[in-house]
Amino acid sequence: MENQTAERKKVIFSAIQPSGTITLGNYLGALKNWVALQDDFDCIFALADLHTITVRQEPAKFRRNILEAYALLLACGIDVNKSLFFMQSHVHTHAELAWILNCYTQFGELSRMTQFKDKSAKHADNVNAGLFTYPSLMAADILLYNADYVPVGADQKQHLELCRNIAERFNGLYSPTFVVPDGLIPKTGARIMSLQDPTKKMSKSDENTAGFITMLDTPAEIMKKFKRAVTDSEARVYYGENKAGINNLMGIYSCITGKSYDEIEKEFEGRGYGDFKTAVGEAVVKELEPIQARYNELIKDKAYLEKCYSEAAPRAEAIARRTLQKVMKKVGYLPVAH
Ligand code: TYM
Repeated sequence: MENQTAERKKVIFSAIQPSGTITLGNYLGALKNWVALQDDFDCIFALADLHTITVRQEPAKFRRNILEAYALLLACGIDVNKSLFFMQSHVHTHAELAWILNCYTQFGELSRMTQFKDKSAKHADNVNAGLFTYPSLMAADILLYNADYVPVGADQKQHLELCRNIAERFNGLYSPTFVVPDGLIPKTGARIMSLQDPTKKMSKSDENTAGFITMLDTPAEIMKKFKRAVTDSEARVYYGENKAGINNLMGIYSCITGKSYDEIEKEFEGRGYGDFKTAVGEAVVKELEPIQARYNELIKDKAYLEKCYSEAAPRAEAIARRTLQKVMKKVGYLPVAH
């Protein structure tokens, strides 16, 4: 990605919060796609650790979560020789642009964000301003890197729309400054549901741990969770209405094996849910095993992890700084003379 000889490759930006457990939902909705995009795009990925303190974190645990999330993403296949992969808190420009964008984002727009409504209901004792302005920081993340595409799961669609609106508003008030990004939301896997309540998104904050698969669950835990997955009483594997549980399992199986829903239906014709759940569980175990093995190696090598994120930070800063300077000039600030 460094030698931009030919025409400019399209830029991908995305980020994930290091807020503890990373789930199969994060992996299938986002991470697996990030890995696949690395060869064809100029990819920039971040651990959104500034976003994470919108919910209270215990410092020692937070520090550990950040490092573990960094190692896990490398284990998933983020390749630092192909992609720029840094920590958001290392690149100060994000917070600076977020401030500016806050002044171009309306209270009403932020009030309509469903994630804000959900999270403020869940953390009623800590409805802080950061939780409210979170989408402007996310917009800054994306816009600093002139991203053309942002691969995310369906739950980030509303934030992405707001980012586009902010960019268009700024471009309209001044002159074209920001690239207006498009979301890349996968056809299958964009919304992996809870295994215990398939009408709810799979989420690491679910009190019922049987509802989600974490990237580091053991094979036995994974098999057990799939065997207990809530389905329906029809006992026929097909994608349809009122089959949220089976639809979800089919989505997971399809994402991992690459099989279409028709192929899956044929494969399990005349077979019960028990067989199907076992097959989905086994496919997930097989997918996660090499990732877990790489993770266990990487997490022992703190020096290597430190080298990767420390080298990435100034490279990200250099790109981000150029955008911020352009923005500040348009707004009317005077630069320091050199
Ligand atoms: P986060 O950390 O909640 O989730 C990371 C990615 O995982 C996707 N995801 C899912 N996909 C499918 N099924 C699910 N059940 C599921 N749960 C989560 C999310 O859609 C996301 O793509 N605000 C973002 C992080 C962020 C960001 C950004 C993303 C900060 N700055 C700039 C894109 C661009 C977040 O909290 O994601």
